[in-house]
Amino acid sequence: MLKVSVIGTGNVAKHLYNAFLNVETVEIVQVVGRNKKALSSFGIEEKTTSDFSEIKDAADIYLIAVSDSAIPAVSQKLESKSGLVAHTSGASSIEMLSKHKAYGVFYPLQTFSKDQEIDFRKVPVCIEGSTKSNMTKLKRLGSEISESVHKVDSEQRQALHLSAVFVNNFTNHLFYIGNKICEENQLPFDLLQPLIEETVQKLKNTTPFDAQTGPARRGDQETLNSHIEQLGNLQDKEIYNLLSQSIQSTYGKKL
Ligand SMILES: NC(=O)c1ccc[n+]([C@@H]2O[C@H](COP(=O)([O-])OP(=O)(O)OC[C@H]3O[C@@H](n4cnc5c(N)ncnc54)[C@H](OP(=O)(O)O)[C@@H]3O)[C@@H](O)[C@H]2O)c1
Repeated sequence: MLKVSVIGTGNVAKHLYNAFLNVETVEIVQVVGRNKKALSSFGIEEKTTSDFSEIKDAADIYLIAVSDSAIPAVSQKLESKSGLVAHTSGASSIEMLSKHKAYGVFYPLQTFSKDQEIDFRKVPVCIEGSTKSNMTKLKRLGSEISESVHKVDSEQRQALHLSAVFVNNFTNHLFYIGNKICEENQLPFDLLQPLIEETVQKLKNTTPFDAQTGPARRGDQETLNSHIEQLGNLQDKEIYNLLSQSIQSTYGKKL
């Protein structure tokens, strides 16, 4: 049985907690967070505390799932603990926790929102440990909740996180702009749902390079000009131009 305490009450903390709850081989010692309302939503009053001085020295692993900027301050509160301390951040180095005897990273590569259900068994968990035995411990914890656990060092993880920003955050922002254009023209965004699904589905059988279609790839200058004209917002025009230029330089054409 692995004993785990989760520090934080946000999106990742909640999904990790639910994943641990689903397996009999992990025992949750405590959930710790400064937000009392969020803590109460875990429904385990006896195992939660908002007082960081009450963190029990009883866990094998402490998972810090707080905002990146708060990791140093929160990890200080765990300096006297004998268990392994790991953060869940894609963008932060393992060395942020180097004051601890045993430390590491437990980064779940997925986009988590509190009310959006996720099958954690399919979430890749990227782990890094300060020693071989810490790596083994984190691998064991990861394997209890996911079928996809990977050793990834800090430099690779930061690259993975950067890549994830492009494929998820930026793509989602483009969905937002697409939705805005639909709303302005009294069109349901749902009409685009099959296209969105096919865009992602296609990547299972082909590379992003080969999957690209559209006016920029075809070099269809008339359509590109007409789209720029249709866009009312200067920033949207800039995004359209920049992405079109990037596509054209990728395929060896000039705008
Ligand atoms: N969301 C994702 O998709 C995702 C995916 C993989 C990894 N991660 C990583 O997981 C970590 C948590 O992300 P999240 O999405 O769960 O964030 P979140 O939903 O915004 O939750 C952040 C948590 O940190 C707490 N917090 C912030 N500042 C604090 C401080 N100074 N002292 C104590 N607690 C503090 C917040 O408490 P309050 O409620 O009181 O503000 C909240 O419990 C981050 O390192 C993030 O990079 C996120």
